[in-house]
Amino acid sequence: MMTKKDVKIKPGKLFINGRWVDSVSGKAFDTLNPATEKVITSVAEGDSADIDLAVAAAREAFENGPWKKIDARDRGRILLEIANLIEKNKDELALLDTLDNGKPINETTNADIPLVIDCFLYYAGWADKIHGETIPVRGDFFNYTLREPVGVVGQIIPWNFPLLMAAWKIAPALACGNTIVLKPAEQTPLSALRLGEICQEAGLPDGVLNIVTGYGPTAGAALAEHMDVDKIAFTGGSATGRIIMQAASKNLKRISLELGGKSPNIVFADSDIDSAVAGAMTGIFFNQGEVCCAGSRLFIEKSIHEEFVEKLSNKAANMRVGNPEDTGTQMGAQVSKEQFDKILGYIETGKQEGAKLVTGGERCGERGYFIKPTIFDAVDNNMRIAKEEIFGPVVSAITFEDVDEVVRQGNLSVYGLAAAVWTKDIKKAHRLARDLKAGTIWINTYNAFDAASPFGGFKQSGFGRELGVHALELYTHVKSVWINLGG
Ligand code: NAI
Ligand code: MG
Repeated sequence: MMTKKDVKIKPGKLFINGRWVDSVSGKAFDTLNPATEKVITSVAEGDSADIDLAVAAAREAFENGPWKKIDARDRGRILLEIANLIEKNKDELALLDTLDNGKPINETTNADIPLVIDCFLYYAGWADKIHGETIPVRGDFFNYTLREPVGVVGQIIPWNFPLLMAAWKIAPALACGNTIVLKPAEQTPLSALRLGEICQEAGLPDGVLNIVTGYGPTAGAALAEHMDVDKIAFTGGSATGRIIMQAASKNLKRISLELGGKSPNIVFADSDIDSAVAGAMTGIFFNQGEVCCAGSRLFIEKSIHEEFVEKLSNKAANMRVGNPEDTGTQMGAQVSKEQFDKILGYIETGKQEGAKLVTGGERCGERGYFIKPTIFDAVDNNMRIAKEEIFGPVVSAITFEDVDEVVRQGNLSVYGLAAAVWTKDIKKAHRLARDLKAGTIWINTYNAFDAASPFGGFKQSGFGRELGVHALELYTHVKSVWINLGG
């Protein structure tokens, strides 16, 4: 098994124009292991001066570098090589995210990293299949479209799936021929930097991918408002999404936002109860509940309510919460003191609002940001714990009696990222798939993902679809070309 000693944690430098450099200001910041509260290493703190350099490098690489001239198929080959190198270094990368984020090694190894590899493999396949069309227009013209990269792309990612979020952003953008400035989350910068090394080793030309670590209001904001960035892609909190949208209006750059959620997980009495319990567990406790599409509103049909909550709370109370590096650990630490405090604050709110605390509700152990799996029952959909994104292992159970009512309540949210339905009734399943306002609908499953299937939100969960063929829309322009065939 890989141990901490095998992980090549280097002093974190910025990756600009193919070189590893300190920040212009010379400043650095520490990244912590949230399970131990100890510093892992120090990372360069980029700000607007570094973003300027990175954007200039990306611009030069886009306009004049080899990336532009390279055959699309060879672009695909580089993406394939990135996938291969990730595979080769998968244990190290898994441990890196586990140390930096606090998530269980079992999950980084068996969920995050395989999805990362798949994402690069999938978009490697797209690189030479992106093309325009010929269009039968009126008149004596030949009309066709060119599908071109948008140019310099700024990408700002969160800390909950550090390497996977980097992959979702980088792979399609590269497949389409763009150049990139990536800003990882300040809580979890390490795996993105390692990915930068891998991309370099895979033969990605200098300046095509630049990585600037730093804080949101400085480095992130500079990227979002930069006049020479053509597009910004963001995943994170809705409040930050709003700020980014405003910043992007400066030069009207294109944006795509993948924001928060308060996803309904709806369990009918006619479902396979044990599978639904397992789905409710994954829905809320996977990744310590730090999941944008977490099933944080659990709607349970009245006739099975008691049985369901009892089964769920038994399972939750028996979850192995602890050292993320142990292969048997099922839930690790919350990413930071801020998130830990925020979650405990919401647990207090839930109690004050009159929800019934069934299990959990407090920190776990004395050191590290661990929180016990927490279930609130007798929650009303109007309570704050049912309306606001907690982003932690806290589920709000809400009872319902009628199909129309649960659709209405399920949709009563400013968010619309995902929804799940548990039933054996095919008609009900498809009806709810149609009527629920969310970008992803899961029937008798939860947290199913594939690089080929689109992901994104309705309403305040954002706009634009990542993954699948749809992500190509985010990273390409369509140009219409008219040729006069007449006199
Ligand atoms: P955040 O949305 O502020 O952070 C995400 C990324 O945005 C980070 O890279 C951060 O440095 C950057 N950022 C922050 N402020 C920025 C600004 N003004 N301009 C440009 N970039 C900026 O999320 P944070 O503060 O870490 O967590 C707050 C809440 O957001 C969480 O409790 C959770 O509810 C939600 N969240 C949702 C995520 C999702 O996947 N939908 C992921 C992370 C957080
Ligand atoms: Mg960290």
